[in-house]
This record gives sequence, C-alpha cells and structure tokens, in this order.
Amino acid sequence: MLRVTELDAGYGFLRVVHGISLQVNQGELVALLGPNGAGKSTTLKCIAGLVRPWKGDIAFRGHSIGGLRGDLVNGLGIGLVSESLNLFTGMTVYENLLMGAYSVPEAEKRRRSLDFVFSLFPRLAERRPQLAGTLSGGERKMLAIGRALMGGPSLLLVDEPSLGLAPKLTQQVFDALRKLSDDGLTILLVEQNVTATLEMVDRAYVLEQGEIVLEGSAQKLSESEHVKDVYLGVMA
Ligand SMILES: Nc1ncnc2c1ncn2[C@@H]1O[C@H](COP(=O)(O)OP(=O)(O)OP(=O)(O)O)[C@@H](O)[C@H]1O
Ligand SMILES: [Mg+2]
Repeated sequence: MLRVTELDAGYGFLRVVHGISLQVNQGELVALLGPNGAGKSTTLKCIAGLVRPWKGDIAFRGHSIGGLRGDLVNGLGIGLVSESLNLFTGMTVYENLLMGAYSVPEAEKRRRSLDFVFSLFPRLAERRPQLAGTLSGGERKMLAIGRALMGGPSLLLVDEPSLGLAPKLTQQVFDALRKLSDDGLTILLVEQNVTATLEMVDRAYVLEQGEIVLEGSAQKLSESEHVKDVYLGVMA
C-alpha cells in the first residue's frame, strides 16, 4: 500500500533522513522506532505531504505521491495524527470530529464514521459537547485519532500515540490501534515506547540518525541484541 524508496529529506541545509526505504502492506500494522531526533516525524511528514522530500520516491497504492500537497495526500486516503495533535481547542469534541470529515460529502457516511469513532472511544461520546481544549491528555489523543478516522483513511499515520500518557492509557490507545488494524486498516506508527509497541505491531523499522538500521518482524526485533541493548535496557 505504501512504498518509500531511498528517501532523503531535511530542513534548510540540514539533512535529517538519508536513503530511507520502507514498505507497509495492506492491512499491516508497522512501527517506525527510534530515539529523539532520529527523523521519525520528518519521515511521516514527508509521507503526509507536510515536508517536501529532497530525493527518493513515495508511492501510495502504486502512484507516486512524493512532493504532493498535504491536503491532496489526505484526500487520497492518508490520515495523519501528528505529535502536536493540532486539535481545534476552542471547538467541541463533536465539532472537531466533524472537521475531520470535511472531505466526506455524504451525511450518511459521516454519521457512520461518527458512530464508529464513538464505539471505539466511548469516552469521546460521553464528552461530545466538551471543548477540546479542556480534555485530558489521553482524551485528546483519542480525539485526534478519531478525527483522522472521520475522513475514512485507508492508511493511518500516527506519530507517538504514547507520548505523555500513563501506561494504562497508552495500553488503551494501543488496544484501539490494534483493533483498527484487525478490522483491516493499514497503520504506520511512530513510537519510542519500544516494549509496548513490539507487543502490538506486525513489523517494525528502527531509525537512527536518519537511517534505517534494523527491520523485521516484531518477534525478530524483540530478540535483536541491538534492540535489547539500546531500547529495552536488557543487559546481555
Ligand atoms: N521544521 C524544522 N526546521 C528545522 N529543523 C527541524 C524541523 N523539524 C525537525 N527538525 C530537526 O530534524 C531532526 C529530526 O527531527 P524529527 O522531528 O524528525 O525527529 P523525531 O525522530 O521525530 O524525534 P522525536 O522522537 O523527538 O519526536 C531534529 O534534529 C530536529 O531538530
Ligand atoms: Mg517526532
């Protein structure tokens, strides 16, 4: 569904990602892991059309989308939940969700998406009239994911869903992502919470200083000496 080939990108004179190749197949839940500053968010933003790639190709369902504007990429069916969430804090939960469906003209389809999001995150249904700016951290995450789902994406990109969440809430959000994946949604997830992520995903890539240094099944990566050493704090 998504194939990134030899991607280079950066800001000004600073090259942040170098020669990244990765692939996400239909229905897969794949993680991009790595330390702060590795270039994970930059990679997601390139795919979502928010940062322009310097070199390389990004193909979605066989069509090249590299360099395409973010709103057009979104219209093709790629939803992004960014680190900063970008919620409309002065609008209610319900209004934020509707904003996510701005490109869906059919009222019936919007209603079905809304029901779906409320069944996935009952907490949002309870807080439907509440201003987004007054939600807790976990509820905000759920709202940002819910809003991205309202556009009916076929590929969901999620940047660090566990950031700032206690383990219990992280698990709730991860459970929701796993459920979405089991229902057929294709997901590429950026994470630093390596232990919990490897328990949930099918495959993962490890990005360090802008380059992919490891890739493989979740099981293979959990058993990798490098991952154990650097990310899981297990002494060999
Ligand atoms: N808009 C920007 N302008 C200039 N430099 C940037 C910009 N965005 C990111 N960078 C730099 O690019 C590098 C990679 O940033 P990026 O956000 O992709 O890392 P990350 O892997 O997502 O890290 P984190 O885990 O901390 O979110 C960092 O050194 C960062 O300072
Ligand atoms: Mg980041």
